[in-house]
Amino acid sequence: MEEKRLKRRIVLVPVPAQGHVTPIMQLGKALYSKGFSITVIQTQYNRVSSSKEFSDFHFLTIPGSLTESDLKNLGPLQFLMKLNQICEASFKNCLGQLLQEQGDHDEIACVVYDEYMYFSAAAPKEFQLPSVVFSTTNATAFVCRSVLAKVNADNFLIDMKDPEVQDKLFPGLHPLRYKDLPTTAFGPLESMIKVYSEVVNTRTASAVIINSASCLESSSLARLQRELQVRVYPIGPLHIAASAPSSLLEEDRSCIEWLNKQKPRSVIYISLGSLALMETKDMLEMARGLSNSKQPFLWVIRPGSIPASEWTESLPEEFGKLVSERGYIVKWAPQMEVLRHPAVGGFWSHCGWNSTLESIGEGVPMICRPFTGDQKVNARYLERVWRIGVQLEGELEKETVERAVKRLIGDEEGAEMRKRVIDLKEKLEASARSGGSSFSSLENFVNSLKTNNF
Ligand code: UDX
Repeated sequence: MEEKRLKRRIVLVPVPAQGHVTPIMQLGKALYSKGFSITVIQTQYNRVSSSKEFSDFHFLTIPGSLTESDLKNLGPLQFLMKLNQICEASFKNCLGQLLQEQGDHDEIACVVYDEYMYFSAAAPKEFQLPSVVFSTTNATAFVCRSVLAKVNADNFLIDMKDPEVQDKLFPGLHPLRYKDLPTTAFGPLESMIKVYSEVVNTRTASAVIINSASCLESSSLARLQRELQVRVYPIGPLHIAASAPSSLLEEDRSCIEWLNKQKPRSVIYISLGSLALMETKDMLEMARGLSNSKQPFLWVIRPGSIPASEWTESLPEEFGKLVSERGYIVKWAPQMEVLRHPAVGGFWSHCGWNSTLESIGEGVPMICRPFTGDQKVNARYLERVWRIGVQLEGELEKETVERAVKRLIGDEEGAEMRKRVIDLKEKLEASARSGGSSFSSLENFVNSLKTNNF
């Protein structure tokens, strides 16, 4: 087996968060299957383990200098900014050492870094190694970030505070409204604009890889390619090309047994990914609406996702009663397996890009309740462009929740959505097969790596 390997190594730099770790490890698997060796350089926060799945990968950890109090008090945006400040030097040391130790059987072909780990750009430039930006979101969100990186922060802040502006279409980004832009719930707008201008700065990179497919967003991909100076490779969805389980939390598989007892396409699966937070009052309205809809539901409540609560202990008794009638709660689910289960009829999601791709990939229509960032872009596309989702906007109320569930599971409208999502699923599968657009894009990327000609 070993003689078939290419004697070239790719260094991956993941963001230490589930929604970013999952696709970059899938990318690692895809590149490994093409013959490259893989080294993952990660920070000491929230590490991927060298489990059986990744026993052929080489893992290195760079030190950080965050204190216990930083880790407790920094929100995700500040955490990222800090990480980018403190890791540049240690990453340079680590890469420098790897280069010194490499033999001619093991040359580094390039560094692929998550777009949010922009500290990684400096070292490859210094060592004259190709570097590639990996975007775990989609092309439309990337285009939005480029636009936001250039706005005048003062004027934009005034616009975003004006309730009348919220529903207006944002110029040049149809069908996105101001309120659909990927602004963040995790910090001030000024900091976000600063981060976005780093993230979209691909000037020193040789290429951009994006976990998306042209059947989903051909015009955004074309626009991105026009706007960037470097080649864009849409090679997604990676979970179809190369599944690679890399859960940072323990999956509770008891929910599969529970699903086995439910009727086909009857269950609403609820999960808000790895970062979104939920208010108690919204959870109660959700539970009431779901209960009134009479549909069974499987609900992932991640520890720490309810502010000031370890898990569900702060929820009122009514919540427990409503859930015990038709619901099942877990802390973390084997999501792909759940979405693939015949009992699942709909996915209530925060519309993270991985969850969106996974839901489309399994032909499951969605109830969209975005929390922050690119999730808002995805939700708008799910409802308005692909027409496979129902977006819940404004205050959550039990009546609107019940109506959304019925639209998705019961109605003719739901049947139409299901038809469209199955059609899209087939297109996605075709794009990942030999001859498909994502398959060819990955081949082109690999050829560019082999010849060092991007
Ligand atoms: C965030 C952004 O929302 C997302 O758009 C961006 O691409 C990456 O960062 P996150 O909020 O975690 O990600 O959501 P998502 O992208 O949906 O990723 C969550 C991942 O966790 C999915 O791959 C999902 O399958 C997995 N998951 C979630 C589980 O395995 N079990 C669960 O119970 C919940």
